[in-house]
Amino acid sequence: MTAAPESAPRSDTGAHTSGTAGYAHRMRILTRLETARELDPVSDKLQEAVTAVVRPRRLRDLLHGTWLGHPLHPVLVELPVGAFVCAAVLDLLPGRRRAATSLVALGVAAAGPSAVAGWTDWSEMTRDRRRVGLVHAAANLVAVGLYTGSLVARLRGRDGRALGFAGLSVAGLGAFLGGHLAYAQGAGANQAAPEIARLPADWTVVGSVASLPEGKTAVRTVGDVPVLFYRHGDQVSALVERCGHETGPLGDGEVVGAGPDACVVCPWHGSTFRLADGAVVHGPAASAQPVLPCRVRDGKVEVRQP
Ligand code: FES
Repeated sequence: MTAAPESAPRSDTGAHTSGTAGYAHRMRILTRLETARELDPVSDKLQEAVTAVVRPRRLRDLLHGTWLGHPLHPVLVELPVGAFVCAAVLDLLPGRRRAATSLVALGVAAAGPSAVAGWTDWSEMTRDRRRVGLVHAAANLVAVGLYTGSLVARLRGRDGRALGFAGLSVAGLGAFLGGHLAYAQGAGANQAAPEIARLPADWTVVGSVASLPEGKTAVRTVGDVPVLFYRHGDQVSALVERCGHETGPLGDGEVVGAGPDACVVCPWHGSTFRLADGAVVHGPAASAQPVLPCRVRDGKVEVRQP
């Protein structure tokens, strides 16, 4: 497996487009966080630990959301966030203490699986994303700690609401960083999807079918998009060549299996995609690799945008 780059292309946090001083200040803090190399020793040790603990491949696939078609972590997060927000609302109403306590208990219990899925995704991110992810996780850990304190206080007959509101505030910071990680830095997004819009909409001749090696992958540029071809007898399949996980070069990946079940293994983190239909067989990618319509006419291979 070849080494993946340590950082994704820098997200333009856009301080130059600031409309307000507050916006520019936030962007400066986020940029500082993305580039905070001093976090790397801790981040690297934690990455090793998570990789060692969540080792079985089936478990990793389960936690990445390979079976779901997109990352599992944001789905699991819904439960603790929903429970904590509802508990805060009930805490503001008279006579709802027991219901609020039940929701706090539910949120604390649901935070565990969500965190495990998040750490598993985090362990296969680029360093700049891991820096932001580390502080996102730390904020959520503090929030769950405050909620646990709130729960213990409530069960002992004390108020516990102040700890709950403090937990919600810190969880808000964690959510803000999670949003930056997902939407500004692109963690968890299908990095291959934007390539589709850059492909020609009409059928485009790529070359002769005979020029494609049997049972091996070959990369051709269509428009300006690298496309991965795989020929099995008369059948030719075509996939976007940049891996949907972190844009690794699938053209350098090993082909495993044969015939309609042949798969390509990404050389960066080992995501495995079936060449016939782009399905994810193993993560960390959670989304299928985009497949292009492909046909053979008069011995020539043609593809177009889906
Ligand atoms: S880039 Fe990570 S598995 Fe392909």
